[in-house]
Amino acid sequence: MRISDKPAARLKELGVELRPSVPLSEKTSLGIGGTTDQLLLRKFETIPEVMRLLADQKIPHRFLGGGTNVLIADGELPYVVLHLPTSQPGMRVEGNAAYVDAAADLGGMVTFCAKRDLGGMEGLIGVPGSVGGALRMNAGAYGTQIGSYVREVELYRASTGKLETLRGDDIRFDYRHTSFAPDDVMLRVKLELPSKPFKEILALIKICNEKRRASQPLNQKSAGCIFKNPPGGSAGRMIDELGLKGHRVGDAMVSDRHANFFVNVANASCADMLRLIDEVRERVRVTYGVELENEVIFWKN
Ligand code: EPU
Repeated sequence: MRISDKPAARLKELGVELRPSVPLSEKTSLGIGGTTDQLLLRKFETIPEVMRLLADQKIPHRFLGGGTNVLIADGELPYVVLHLPTSQPGMRVEGNAAYVDAAADLGGMVTFCAKRDLGGMEGLIGVPGSVGGALRMNAGAYGTQIGSYVREVELYRASTGKLETLRGDDIRFDYRHTSFAPDDVMLRVKLELPSKPFKEILALIKICNEKRRASQPLNQKSAGCIFKNPPGGSAGRMIDELGLKGHRVGDAMVSDRHANFFVNVANASCADMLRLIDEVRERVRVTYGVELENEVIFWKN
């Protein structure tokens, strides 16, 4: 979608940088996604006004974070994407509290805190994506979930049109799910982390990295796990048992390393990936009687 000149000029006045016709395949870890205008929001304070302008002008929009857990449709997209600035996002530590901008890289935040002897999040080290995306999904790995450490979240609430601060206790963090509204925009978080010597944290980080390298296709284009694990079960194990590793639709393939990772081996389209997801879901449903739920977020047009 192209933004016309008049709203574009007003957005510029509000400190927004406009990048026309950006292929979102370059902004997602899957390497899939159509083309649209991208708006970079340089100033948090102007977000409510930017959002009002987009609403008044009836310009459909979506927020894209790190792009590591999203599957975006092909072709010209019927909405623009908004992006928080990712260069030099703020991070600071005060005692056991860490204050981090949502645009920060999740792994970068874990390392930043570790160097200041704050631990607890070792399991999250190899999870790709932004802090904002991790908050929204309650990202987790190797027994750690980010939600356990959240004390405050500063966000833009589309329902009120205002910047607000939520207390950690007022947010529900479940398995890969939170009580944030779909149109809430994460801006900053305050975490409370246990003190731990850097050396100890580093040792745990190494163990997690090794486990991950041994079991996940880290050097291929993917969005991490495609399905959530069903209660008490493992999506990866079921798909593996069905002999579907290496199964392909076009350039979308079930990883031969971890069956719940679907990789883009060259130039997969969103349509390829969706067909692969549907085929695998159906095979699991027929054999195990389990309806797998997507973990990856599909941006339907
Ligand atoms: N397994 C197989 N074959 C496979 C993959 C897994 O038999 O192809 C078996 C493993 O041997 C193991 C079990 O299934 O016994 C579970 O596998 P794994 O330890 O790899 O964990 P997972 O449940 O598949 C979850 C998260 C990952 C996270 C890892 C490590 C979900 C959907 N996935 O995977 O998160 O990295 O645990 O904690 O909860 C993600 O969220 O995108 C993600 C990758």
